[in-house]
Amino acid sequence: MSRLDTQPTPAAATGLVCERMSARYGSLTVCNGISFSIAPGELLALIGPNGAGKTSLVGALNGTVNGSGEVTLDGRRIDALPSWRRVGIGLTTVPDGRGLFPSLTVSDNLRLGALLTEKSRRDEALTGALDLFPFLKARWGDAAGALSGGQQQMLAIAKCLASSPRVLMLDEPTQGLAPIIVDELAEVLRTLCKRGLPILLVEQNHHLVETVADRFIVLVGGKVVLEGGQADLADRDRIANLYLQRSAAAIH
Ligand SMILES: Nc1ncnc2c1ncn2[C@@H]1O[C@H](COP(=O)(O)OP(=O)(O)OP(=O)(O)O)[C@@H](O)[C@H]1O
Ligand SMILES: [Mg+2]
Repeated sequence: MSRLDTQPTPAAATGLVCERMSARYGSLTVCNGISFSIAPGELLALIGPNGAGKTSLVGALNGTVNGSGEVTLDGRRIDALPSWRRVGIGLTTVPDGRGLFPSLTVSDNLRLGALLTEKSRRDEALTGALDLFPFLKARWGDAAGALSGGQQQMLAIAKCLASSPRVLMLDEPTQGLAPIIVDELAEVLRTLCKRGLPILLVEQNHHLVETVADRFIVLVGGKVVLEGGQADLADRDRIANLYLQRSAAAIH
């Protein structure tokens, strides 16, 4: 594994810390030995080619995919907890495919997210989520499935925010989105970082990663092969070569 920056990964007492993570399906281990931390207000991008194990790693972190390793959220070990308890503690995921209920209204989707917030703070959490996405107020009674792709992605993020997250993980949120919506998404992610949320962004859109990431790790074949800081993202050739090596390995 290569390090491009000279700074050690900060050991975050708060935020998300994961150590020696693996993910597996039955006897097949698809990623292994992955460690990183994300401090409050920091955005870590997880990049890598198709099949690298990005979604599986997110699943191992949130408990929906079998795995091993230590996961600590704001100083509390959570890896022994079932998935639903990790969500309740604040480890939220905007999954690949968004995780909305398309036939339910915008309002119902948001209220479902808010169910994870303590009852006395639900209205406040909903208001906070809507402040970031005011267009949702005008679509309050519409079915989520009637929104455009970009609007659905924003609703999926708002639904997670309504649950009062302490960490946000997003799995390829730009899939199928127009460049102008990707720029809006970048603005949203910046705002959330400013509010102090640690964010793990799984993404193959290099433009978005360059715009918002503080640090990045590259996963190839289930292992971290490169990590670096924001400035290192400009070395597109080096990162592209890692992808190409993966493609070449698949061909031979
Ligand atoms: N449910 C499953 N059962 C068995 N193998 C799986 C399952 N889901 C994924 N895999 C395998 O695990 C490996 C990693 O897949 P994963 O979806 O995590 O990669 P990814 O980096 O998210 O790829 P993509 O960029 O295409 O989303 C792949 O070889 C894939 O075929
Ligand atoms: Mg994936």
